[in-house]
Amino acid sequence: MTVDPQHPDPEVIARAAGILRAGGLVAFPTETVYGLGADGLNPLALARLFEAKGRPATDPVILHIADLEALPQLAREVPPSAWTLARRFWPGPLTLVLPKQAIVPDLVTAGLPTVAIRMPAHPVALALIRAAGTPIAAPSANRFGHTSPTTAQHVLEDLGGRIELILDAGPTPIGVESTVIDLTRPIPTILRPGGLPREALEAAVGPVAVFDRSVAGPAPAPGLLPKHYAPRAEMVVLIGPGEWLRSRLRELALRYLQESYRVGVLIAEEDRPAVEDLPVEIAALGSEKDLEGIARRLYPAMRELDGRGLDLILARDFGTQGLGLAIRDRLIRAAGGRVIKEDEPL
Ligand code: TXA
Ligand code: MG
Repeated sequence: MTVDPQHPDPEVIARAAGILRAGGLVAFPTETVYGLGADGLNPLALARLFEAKGRPATDPVILHIADLEALPQLAREVPPSAWTLARRFWPGPLTLVLPKQAIVPDLVTAGLPTVAIRMPAHPVALALIRAAGTPIAAPSANRFGHTSPTTAQHVLEDLGGRIELILDAGPTPIGVESTVIDLTRPIPTILRPGGLPREALEAAVGPVAVFDRSVAGPAPAPGLLPKHYAPRAEMVVLIGPGEWLRSRLRELALRYLQESYRVGVLIAEEDRPAVEDLPVEIAALGSEKDLEGIARRLYPAMRELDGRGLDLILARDFGTQGLGLAIRDRLIRAAGGRVIKEDEPL
């Protein structure tokens, strides 16, 4: 059902909210990616949510709220840092992990003593949460392990026939998921870099640690497994300075083309001259200086390349400043950790 992203029709919102209250599933836009919503306090609805996504019950989901008053109703302790971040960045692409209140069902938190909470900055999402009158549990609206959806069409491809309704408000403005920050540790720790840059968090609450999800080892939550945002083709990420990136990109493309691989490249406009004379599928994400644009086009480009029956996707990194950290995280996870860095032999 189409809905205006700025001024959603109250009748459409009421219908979607009714489905949620009755235990049904509704996909809706947020400013990051499309979410698959269920009543976050209804265990039967939550069970259906995990079933529809094919998601293991060991992977906790985020509760979405529309008003600050809901925060202490869901979180048992709300430290000053949480209030500071909530007041500064909500509604927005930031998820806070806090000790949970007893009313939060175990299915939401996968049995953990903590709960993840966020207030999304999308008029449709906010209207839907308010109309439903309950916190909305919403993982990204893709089948488990697939690339997150940034359009209603992507949701339909993954979940069509499994859910009651999709609210289509066009492409999502940010394009990567929210930043997840754990405030139960001595130092606030980013568990998943996302749409809100680390620099903005540090400006508000001081030093922030980043949990390195790209290395093997015990994950702090089962959902933070290395391979997650996965295309079907094998993917490799190149990390290094621009000139090196472009020459290595060309060298690798040539090598695999020689072996009759069907090769795709996920690159910036600036990289195009390095590969445009080769028989490779090119997905250019925009200027390397425009990280917002790169983030917005990343998932659609991965889906697009994935639909072309490639054997190998060579992707380039965009550094760690601002949204670069989230982009790197998603690329490395899509590649299942396969990374080539400068000065490493091929
Ligand atoms: O932008 C977003 O966050 C989107 C939109 C729909 O809001 N949602 C989203 O949900 O990305 P999902 O389920 O795909 O990812 C939620 C992440 C997972 O990495 C999960 O492990 C983590 O949040 N998470 C949830 N609850 C947690 C908890 N109690 N402790 C640690 N991590 C948690
Ligand atoms: Mg997800």
